[in-house]
Amino acid sequence: MIDSHAHLNDPAFRGDLAEVLARASDSGVQAMINVGYDLESSRHAVELADQYSHLWAVVGLHPHDAKLWTEELGDALQELVKHPKVLALGEVGLDYHYDNSPRDKQRSAFRAQLNLARQLNLPAVIHSREATRDTLEIVGEYPEVSCLLHCYSGSLETATIYEEMGHFFSFGGPITFQNAHKLRDVVIGIPLERILLETDCPYLTPHPHRGKRNEPAYLSLIAKKLAEIHGCTLEDVIMQTVANTRQFFRLGNKEDL
Ligand code: NI
Repeated sequence: MIDSHAHLNDPAFRGDLAEVLARASDSGVQAMINVGYDLESSRHAVELADQYSHLWAVVGLHPHDAKLWTEELGDALQELVKHPKVLALGEVGLDYHYDNSPRDKQRSAFRAQLNLARQLNLPAVIHSREATRDTLEIVGEYPEVSCLLHCYSGSLETATIYEEMGHFFSFGGPITFQNAHKLRDVVIGIPLERILLETDCPYLTPHPHRGKRNEPAYLSLIAKKLAEIHGCTLEDVIMQTVANTRQFFRLGNKEDL
Protein backbone atom coordinates (compact mmCIF):
# COMPACT_ATOMS: atom_id res chain seq x y z
CA MET A 1 0.00 0.00 0.00
CA ILE A 2 0.97 3.61 -0.46
CA ASP A 3 -0.12 6.30 1.99
CA SER A 4 -0.80 9.11 -0.50
CA HIS A 5 -1.29 11.81 2.14
CA ALA A 6 0.60 11.78 5.43
CA HIS A 7 2.11 14.48 7.61
CA LEU A 8 5.12 12.73 9.11
CA ASN A 9 6.64 16.19 8.72
CA ASP A 10 4.34 17.29 11.57
CA PRO A 11 5.82 17.91 15.05
CA ALA A 12 3.52 15.12 16.31
CA PHE A 13 6.06 12.61 14.90
CA ARG A 14 9.22 14.31 16.09
CA GLY A 15 9.82 11.94 18.98
CA ASP A 16 9.29 8.50 17.46
CA LEU A 17 9.48 8.65 13.66
CA ALA A 18 11.69 5.54 13.42
CA GLU A 19 9.11 3.44 15.30
CA VAL A 20 6.26 4.88 13.22
CA LEU A 21 8.10 3.98 10.00
CA ALA A 22 8.87 0.48 11.27
CA ARG A 23 5.19 -0.13 12.11
CA ALA A 24 4.19 1.20 8.68
CA SER A 25 6.52 -1.28 6.94
CA ASP A 26 5.33 -4.15 9.14
CA SER A 27 1.73 -3.39 8.19
CA GLY A 28 2.45 -3.40 4.44
CA VAL A 29 2.84 0.31 3.72
CA GLN A 30 5.63 0.42 1.14
CA ALA A 31 5.78 4.20 0.63
CA MET A 32 4.39 7.43 2.07
CA ILE A 33 3.89 10.85 0.59
CA ASN A 34 4.31 13.65 3.13
CA VAL A 35 2.34 16.76 2.39
CA GLY A 36 3.40 20.26 3.41
CA TYR A 37 1.04 22.90 4.73
CA ASP A 38 3.40 25.87 5.05
CA LEU A 39 7.00 26.61 4.10
CA GLU A 40 8.56 24.98 7.16
CA SER A 41 6.54 21.77 6.90
CA SER A 42 7.16 21.65 3.13
CA ARG A 43 10.91 21.93 3.70
CA HIS A 44 10.72 19.24 6.35
CA ALA A 45 8.80 16.94 3.98
CA VAL A 46 11.63 17.36 1.45
CA GLU A 47 14.28 16.68 4.11
CA LEU A 48 12.51 13.45 5.08
CA ALA A 49 12.26 12.42 1.43
CA ASP A 50 15.99 13.03 1.15
CA GLN A 51 16.66 10.87 4.17
CA TYR A 52 14.38 7.89 3.40
CA SER A 53 14.05 6.31 -0.04
CA HIS A 54 10.38 5.35 0.53
CA LEU A 55 9.25 8.83 1.56
CA TRP A 56 8.18 11.47 -0.98
CA ALA A 57 7.10 15.09 -0.68
CA VAL A 58 4.37 17.47 -1.74
CA VAL A 59 4.91 21.17 -1.03
CA GLY A 60 2.50 24.05 -0.61
CA LEU A 61 0.55 26.44 1.58
CA HIS A 62 -2.67 25.19 3.23
CA PRO A 63 -5.77 27.39 2.98
CA HIS A 64 -5.64 27.84 6.78
CA ASP A 65 -2.48 29.88 6.30
CA ALA A 66 -3.39 31.51 3.00
CA LYS A 67 -3.02 34.92 4.63
CA LEU A 68 0.74 34.24 4.69
CA TRP A 69 0.93 33.97 0.89
CA THR A 70 3.50 36.23 -0.76
CA GLU A 71 5.35 36.11 -4.05
CA GLU A 72 8.51 35.29 -2.11
CA LEU A 73 6.79 32.25 -0.65
CA GLY A 74 5.87 31.23 -4.19
CA ASP A 75 9.54 31.58 -5.17
CA ALA A 76 10.61 29.47 -2.19
CA LEU A 77 8.13 26.72 -3.16
CA GLN A 78 9.41 26.85 -6.71
CA GLU A 79 12.93 26.23 -5.38
CA LEU A 80 11.75 23.24 -3.33
CA VAL A 81 9.99 21.73 -6.34
CA LYS A 82 13.38 21.31 -8.04
CA HIS A 83 14.08 18.43 -5.67
CA PRO A 84 13.50 15.17 -7.59
CA LYS A 85 11.33 13.72 -4.83
CA VAL A 86 8.79 16.53 -4.83
CA LEU A 87 5.78 15.14 -6.66
CA ALA A 88 3.10 17.83 -6.53
CA LEU A 89 1.88 21.14 -5.15
CA GLY A 90 -0.25 20.82 -2.01
CA GLU A 91 -2.05 20.89 0.04
CA VAL A 92 -3.80 23.85 -1.48
CA GLY A 93 -7.45 24.81 -1.62
CA LEU A 94 -10.26 26.39 0.38
CA ASP A 95 -11.52 25.85 3.91
CA TYR A 96 -14.69 27.79 4.65
CA HIS A 97 -15.39 25.68 7.73
CA TYR A 98 -12.61 27.14 9.87
CA ASP A 99 -12.08 30.35 7.88
CA ASN A 100 -8.61 30.71 9.44
CA SER A 101 -7.68 33.02 6.57
CA PRO A 102 -9.99 35.51 4.82
CA ARG A 103 -11.77 33.83 1.90
CA ASP A 104 -10.41 36.21 -0.73
CA LYS A 105 -6.87 35.41 0.48
CA GLN A 106 -7.67 31.71 0.33
CA ARG A 107 -8.85 32.03 -3.26
CA SER A 108 -5.85 34.05 -4.38
CA ALA A 109 -3.30 31.72 -2.72
CA PHE A 110 -5.14 28.74 -4.26
CA ARG A 111 -5.06 30.28 -7.74
CA ALA A 112 -1.40 31.30 -7.36
CA GLN A 113 -0.40 27.73 -6.46
CA LEU A 114 -2.47 26.13 -9.24
CA ASN A 115 -0.79 28.58 -11.55
CA LEU A 116 2.57 27.37 -10.25
CA ALA A 117 1.50 23.74 -10.78
CA ARG A 118 0.53 24.53 -14.36
CA GLN A 119 3.82 26.33 -15.02
CA LEU A 120 5.85 23.49 -13.52
CA ASN A 121 3.69 20.76 -15.08
CA LEU A 122 2.91 19.16 -11.71
CA PRO A 123 -0.30 17.74 -10.26
CA ALA A 124 -1.97 19.35 -7.23
CA VAL A 125 -3.35 17.97 -3.96
CA ILE A 126 -6.56 19.77 -3.04
CA HIS A 127 -8.07 20.43 0.39
CA SER A 128 -11.68 21.60 0.19
CA ARG A 129 -14.04 21.97 3.12
CA GLU A 130 -17.47 23.56 2.88
CA ALA A 131 -16.29 25.37 -0.25
CA THR A 132 -17.68 23.14 -2.99
CA ARG A 133 -18.75 25.80 -5.47
CA ASP A 134 -15.61 27.94 -5.32
CA THR A 135 -13.28 24.91 -5.38
CA LEU A 136 -15.01 23.54 -8.48
CA GLU A 137 -14.86 26.92 -10.16
CA ILE A 138 -11.16 27.49 -9.46
CA VAL A 139 -10.12 23.91 -10.31
CA GLY A 140 -12.06 24.38 -13.56
CA GLU A 141 -9.90 27.39 -14.44
CA TYR A 142 -6.82 25.12 -14.60
CA PRO A 143 -7.86 22.17 -16.80
CA GLU A 144 -4.19 21.33 -17.44
CA VAL A 145 -3.55 20.61 -13.75
CA SER A 146 -4.41 17.09 -12.63
CA CYS A 147 -5.98 17.28 -9.16
CA LEU A 148 -6.38 14.92 -6.22
CA LEU A 149 -9.38 15.77 -4.04
CA HIS A 150 -7.89 14.76 -0.72
CA CYS A 151 -10.20 13.41 1.99
CA TYR A 152 -13.10 14.04 -0.36
CA SER A 153 -16.27 14.94 1.55
CA GLY A 154 -18.54 16.38 -1.16
CA SER A 155 -21.56 14.93 -2.93
CA LEU A 156 -21.59 12.27 -5.63
CA GLU A 157 -22.88 14.87 -8.14
CA THR A 158 -19.82 17.04 -7.55
CA ALA A 159 -17.56 13.97 -7.62
CA THR A 160 -18.96 13.07 -11.02
CA ILE A 161 -18.03 16.50 -12.38
CA TYR A 162 -14.46 16.12 -11.07
CA GLU A 163 -14.33 12.60 -12.46
CA GLU A 164 -15.34 13.84 -15.92
CA MET A 165 -12.54 16.41 -15.67
CA GLY A 166 -10.12 13.50 -15.09
CA HIS A 167 -9.37 14.18 -11.43
CA PHE A 168 -8.73 11.71 -8.58
CA PHE A 169 -10.01 11.26 -5.01
CA SER A 170 -8.39 10.02 -1.82
CA PHE A 171 -10.13 8.61 1.22
CA GLY A 172 -8.95 8.02 4.76
CA GLY A 173 -10.20 7.39 8.29
CA PRO A 174 -13.66 8.98 7.84
CA ILE A 175 -14.84 6.08 5.62
CA THR A 176 -14.39 3.81 8.66
CA PHE A 177 -16.39 6.00 11.06
CA GLN A 178 -19.48 4.21 12.29
CA ASN A 179 -21.93 6.99 11.39
CA ALA A 180 -20.41 7.78 7.95
CA HIS A 181 -23.21 6.22 5.88
CA LYS A 182 -23.55 9.19 3.55
CA LEU A 183 -19.82 9.29 2.82
CA ARG A 184 -19.77 5.55 2.08
CA ASP A 185 -22.66 6.04 -0.38
CA VAL A 186 -20.50 8.59 -2.22
CA VAL A 187 -17.48 6.25 -2.21
CA ILE A 188 -19.57 3.46 -3.78
CA GLY A 189 -20.36 5.78 -6.70
CA ILE A 190 -16.72 6.61 -7.49
CA PRO A 191 -14.86 4.08 -9.67
CA LEU A 192 -12.00 2.32 -7.89
CA GLU A 193 -9.77 3.44 -10.79
CA ARG A 194 -9.95 6.99 -9.40
CA ILE A 195 -9.37 6.29 -5.70
CA LEU A 196 -6.16 6.59 -3.65
CA LEU A 197 -5.66 5.60 -0.01
CA GLU A 198 -4.52 8.10 2.61
CA THR A 199 -4.27 8.48 6.36
CA ASP A 200 -3.84 12.28 6.70
CA CYS A 201 -1.97 11.33 9.88
CA PRO A 202 -1.70 12.59 12.61
CA TYR A 203 -5.34 13.52 11.99
CA LEU A 204 -8.51 11.54 11.14
CA THR A 205 -7.58 8.33 12.94
CA PRO A 206 -9.68 5.39 11.64
CA HIS A 207 -12.05 3.31 13.72
CA PRO A 208 -11.36 1.65 16.21
CA HIS A 209 -8.42 3.87 17.14
CA ARG A 210 -10.28 7.20 17.11
CA GLY A 211 -8.96 9.56 19.76
CA LYS A 212 -5.37 8.34 19.33
CA ARG A 213 -2.74 9.86 17.04
CA ASN A 214 -3.13 8.52 13.51
CA GLU A 215 -0.17 6.90 11.70
CA PRO A 216 0.48 5.14 8.36
CA ALA A 217 0.28 1.66 9.96
CA TYR A 218 -3.50 2.19 10.19
CA LEU A 219 -3.79 2.45 6.40
CA SER A 220 -4.76 -1.23 6.19
CA LEU A 221 -7.97 -0.47 8.13
CA ILE A 222 -8.91 2.04 5.45
CA ALA A 223 -8.00 -0.36 2.63
CA LYS A 224 -10.15 -3.09 4.22
CA LYS A 225 -13.11 -0.73 4.55
CA LEU A 226 -12.74 0.38 0.94
CA ALA A 227 -12.76 -3.27 -0.18
CA GLU A 228 -15.91 -3.84 1.85
CA ILE A 229 -17.62 -0.74 0.39
CA HIS A 230 -16.71 -1.62 -3.19
CA GLY A 231 -17.41 -5.31 -2.75
CA CYS A 232 -13.98 -6.48 -3.88
CA THR A 233 -10.99 -8.16 -2.30
CA LEU A 234 -8.33 -6.40 -0.25
CA GLU A 235 -5.79 -7.48 -2.90
CA ASP A 236 -7.84 -5.71 -5.60
CA VAL A 237 -7.95 -2.53 -3.54
CA ILE A 238 -4.22 -2.61 -2.87
CA MET A 239 -3.26 -3.30 -6.50
CA GLN A 240 -5.62 -0.69 -7.92
CA THR A 241 -4.85 2.09 -5.41
CA VAL A 242 -1.09 1.61 -5.80
CA ALA A 243 -1.50 1.83 -9.59
CA ASN A 244 -3.66 4.96 -9.21
CA THR A 245 -1.13 6.59 -6.89
CA ARG A 246 1.68 5.88 -9.35
CA GLN A 247 -0.42 7.28 -12.19
CA PHE A 248 -1.57 10.43 -10.39
CA PHE A 249 1.90 11.31 -9.04
CA ARG A 250 3.59 10.22 -12.31
CA LEU A 251 5.83 7.72 -10.62
CA GLY A 252 6.24 5.51 -13.66
CA ASN A 253 10.02 5.81 -13.82
CA LYS A 254 10.74 6.21 -10.15
CA GLU A 255 12.02 2.88 -8.93
CA ASP A 256 11.64 3.35 -5.20
CA LEU A 257 7.87 3.43 -5.32
NI1 NI B 1 -3.60 16.84 5.18
